[in-house]
Amino acid sequence: MNDTISVAAYLKEQSELDTLRFITCGSVDDGKSTLIGRMLFEAKALFDDQVDALQADSRKHGTQGEDIDFALLVDGLSAEREQGITIDVAYRFFTTDKRRFIVADTPGHSQYTRNMATGASTAALAIILVDARHGILEQTRRHSYICHLMGIRQIILAVNKMDLVDYDKNAFDNIVTDYQAFSADMNFADVTAIPISALKGEHINSRSTVMSWYQGPTLISKLETAPNQTTADADGFAMPVQLVNRPNSEFRGYSGVILREHVSVGEQVRIAPSGTVTSVKHIWLAGTKLDQAKRGLSVTLELADNVDISRGEVIASHNQPVEVADQFEVDLVWMSEDHGMVSRGYQLKLAGQTVSASLLSIKHKLDINTGNNLAAKTLQLNDIARVTINCQKQICFDAYNQTPELGAFILIDPVSQQTVAAGMIHFALRRAGNIHRQKLDVDKTARRILNGHTSKVFWFTGLSGSGKSTIADAMASALHARGIRTYLLDGDNIRHGLNKDLGFSDADRIENIRRVAEMAKLMVDAGLVVLTAFISPFRSERDMARQMFESDEFIEVFVDTPLDICEQRDAKGLYKKARAGDIPNFTGIGSPYEEPEHPDITLHPSQDMEDMIAKLSAFLSE
Ligand code: ADX
Repeated sequence: MNDTISVAAYLKEQSELDTLRFITCGSVDDGKSTLIGRMLFEAKALFDDQVDALQADSRKHGTQGEDIDFALLVDGLSAEREQGITIDVAYRFFTTDKRRFIVADTPGHSQYTRNMATGASTAALAIILVDARHGILEQTRRHSYICHLMGIRQIILAVNKMDLVDYDKNAFDNIVTDYQAFSADMNFADVTAIPISALKGEHINSRSTVMSWYQGPTLISKLETAPNQTTADADGFAMPVQLVNRPNSEFRGYSGVILREHVSVGEQVRIAPSGTVTSVKHIWLAGTKLDQAKRGLSVTLELADNVDISRGEVIASHNQPVEVADQFEVDLVWMSEDHGMVSRGYQLKLAGQTVSASLLSIKHKLDINTGNNLAAKTLQLNDIARVTINCQKQICFDAYNQTPELGAFILIDPVSQQTVAAGMIHFALRRAGNIHRQKLDVDKTARRILNGHTSKVFWFTGLSGSGKSTIADAMASALHARGIRTYLLDGDNIRHGLNKDLGFSDADRIENIRRVAEMAKLMVDAGLVVLTAFISPFRSERDMARQMFESDEFIEVFVDTPLDICEQRDAKGLYKKARAGDIPNFTGIGSPYEEPEHPDITLHPSQDMEDMIAKLSAFLSE
């Protein structure tokens, strides 16, 4: 009984609690730390002894009289935190009479887009901070675009350091006009510009006497009255399964956070991706049964039927199910120094699901200064782009503007494990839904039986002139003589036909390898022993190729001939040209070769050909 009361009280508090989450965008130079410190101070979120200590510190740092250098406070906090663990976003809490606030403070300079995107994803409002002396900068524009992409509809344009422009109304008006012109097509629901001085406390919590020309709200009063909306406007209930809860054989529950509306006992639900329909038997919250639970709560659901659901699958209202697809049009914010390339493999993570994915095409990237779309072959740090992506498996999702938590994802580089991009799904590509796999009667096993041998791919990698083609050719002859059906896919040959449209930029080499891997896969399916001889200089694409095959079907053969020997051989005279500067991106000279870390076999130029072929052939008898 007691339990029921406390849960009821908890739910009541949840529904009455009004917490506005917002983000501050700007750099230290714009006075961001000072502003956050000032807000905490005005909201009395600081203890008196902290204020005394700050005043003393501020005088040491040269601040006059009673003025406080609030940046010392906020920067001090961040520095402390960053010592122990790396955190990208610091959340600060403060309360006024009217509301509670959680402000996402996103530090960082070159990597700021990553931090911003993290902080913006849960915010209902953004304060865009501008230095009154400098006006709208490229960074202001970029921040605004990211807020727009992340679905923030309310902007406070805080024109700071008004004290340094003599509280001049014209300076303020010009900045506001600039910002309005630039932000017009972003469809923000509300843009409120406020002239402030975070340092002097003008228009933070009280009306300024030095800027009586301004009639609008103060910063805090605007924050107190802004509507508390995020973009989510999907109907029906949805909950991605984070944990399958099976403490004993009697109980099977599915735990997760409710992302849309609410769920009730007895409600019919549909599970994605399977489409299975069942109903909710019990809703558990911290050991207590509820009749209904709403958005934001972490609950465990027991279902009426004994269905099998795994982590990442989504339980949703049966008539408002989440979508399932494997190709999407998305917006990406690129966050890595490593360029984003079409065809390169990444891990995509969305609401507990992880799948291999790649960029299919870059439709355009945004010119931050003009708002125009630009053509692009690669994505660079801080780029914002519209792209299409392909996942190896179907995922459960919702459009970002419907349910942000089910439409936002990150891309991870599988080699470095770094997050390289944050993305938002617009929609699934229709073609993906209209193309189905055709089931065929004669399959790989049948063809292998007919051939009387297995099928595999031997993936030769190494520098130009390392001997890949020569060894692969000798091996093909030896196998052929034994009645084994082979095919040798050779770089120079394929580049005369199928891949004649590709050059040697990183992006083209990636596409070269993707096509060859797809072709090798078809040939392995056809029952052949395939030998590929491509430099294939990047680990990422060799790994991607490996992933396309069964574990025993792919043998990575590293032909480890050092650069100086390849260069001495120089059968095609290309090294000479490259040294002369005529081939700027020649592998080993102007373009990198990433050696395999765990090849299945390494061959050296000094080895006897027959030995090498015997070693390679051993993989076929296994
Ligand atoms: S890969 O890097 O995309 O895997 P691939 O194996 O298809 O390369 O082609 C390599 C062959 O193209 C080399 O053996 C060489 O004959 C020729 N070639 C021409 N330009 C270059 C270049 N810039 N870098 C490397 N190889 C080149």
